[in-house]
Amino acid sequence: MSEAQNPAQNPTQPLRVVIGVSGGIAAYKACHLVRNFKEAGDEVRVIPTTNALNFVGAATFEALSGNPVDTGVFTRVDEVQHVRVGQEADLIVVAPATADLIARVAAGRADDLLTSTILVATCPVVLAPAMHTEMWLNPATQVNVATLRERGITVLEPAHGRLTGRDTGPGRLPEPDVIAQLARTVLRTNGANAFARTLAGKRVLISAGGTQENIDPVRYIGNRSSGKQGYALGDIAAQRGAKVTIVAGATDELEPPSGAEVVKVGSTREMRQAMVDRAPDADVVIMAAAVADFRPEAEANTKLKKGQADDALSTIRLTENPDILKDLVDMREAGQVASTIIGFAAETDNELENGRAKLKRKGADMLMLNSVAGGGVFGQARNRGWLLSADGGEEEIPDGTKHEVAVHIWDAIERLAL
Ligand code: CTP
Repeated sequence: MSEAQNPAQNPTQPLRVVIGVSGGIAAYKACHLVRNFKEAGDEVRVIPTTNALNFVGAATFEALSGNPVDTGVFTRVDEVQHVRVGQEADLIVVAPATADLIARVAAGRADDLLTSTILVATCPVVLAPAMHTEMWLNPATQVNVATLRERGITVLEPAHGRLTGRDTGPGRLPEPDVIAQLARTVLRTNGANAFARTLAGKRVLISAGGTQENIDPVRYIGNRSSGKQGYALGDIAAQRGAKVTIVAGATDELEPPSGAEVVKVGSTREMRQAMVDRAPDADVVIMAAAVADFRPEAEANTKLKKGQADDALSTIRLTENPDILKDLVDMREAGQVASTIIGFAAETDNELENGRAKLKRKGADMLMLNSVAGGGVFGQARNRGWLLSADGGEEEIPDGTKHEVAVHIWDAIERLAL
């Protein structure tokens, strides 16, 4: 297959996606997953288990996918579909994947259309587990998950939170848009390696989003950062097994990475405190936040009015904020922090030259340099740039989604330091 024809290499080419659905209450969320791929222009075939149809009817999946829905291997036998569908797929995503489905796939069973399809497939297979915490943590399930991961099947980390009953913990199905994003990332990067458990046992601290500096109770100075790149770094680290903490300034409405602690902050000084407090426990610190360099010298307690004698609104005096990245590097030099420290750089011109100078000035181990000329990157779904490392290394990061870029950044961090 030439590169142009290979859908994994060509993001504009529609994918043939199989969405497997097994029998858990989260099956209703599979409907949104089908829509996500359909809206992107992909061809979707839904294969539920018979138990899944106790939760969502075949008619729903047929209407949403525009394709027939079968569960067993004895329908459409003349088309040999128990083999054909798996052979032709570009990507298989199972959501929800119950403990039972995971066990059957780990055992190599092929007792219905979904497991037959998975057994035949040579394309990336992504399972999104959903079950009660006890079932997820049960050694039987954990061994099955480890077996599948060893065989190159991607088993996503379940989300943490409220489950069907009163219990909370790991076992929730990640949001459908997150599943789709992660599954596409597996397809477009290096397959199962993108989510290999290379960060198991590591603690990762990431700042994300913009800081906001209050002028008065209703106004602030801020910037256009969405936090997407920082959260995407958190998502990939969590999928690779890391314990992730995100210190989040102003961000879009973003789902926390699986199992991550999210600490919300407002101003640069709050972000600095949160980072300084947590950095001593982190193996890797990433400053992906767009930090406001200046803040108003004084914050008014009441709303400033136009035309006041002191002209407080038309002339706001600013004072410089601390440089969090520099402070973290200084802490490391003082022996208080042992982490690998990664920064970002937003430049509009002379990017490589400015980026190199910034890396030196800040003393970080590596900088992800983005060109933000013309408003690109901030708030966008895609990113590109260069990774500059303190040892003189320079790697161009091709255009991709922020999750794809995050895979490249983590690969580079792991080569550099872990
Ligand atoms: N950064 C920081 N504290 C600040 C400003 C920036 O920790 N007060 C971090 C950012 O999170 C990023 C890196 O420093 O990781 C570079 O940020 P950038 O905005 O590109 O550079 P500045 O330091 O603001 O320098 P300049 O405005 O001169 O480009």
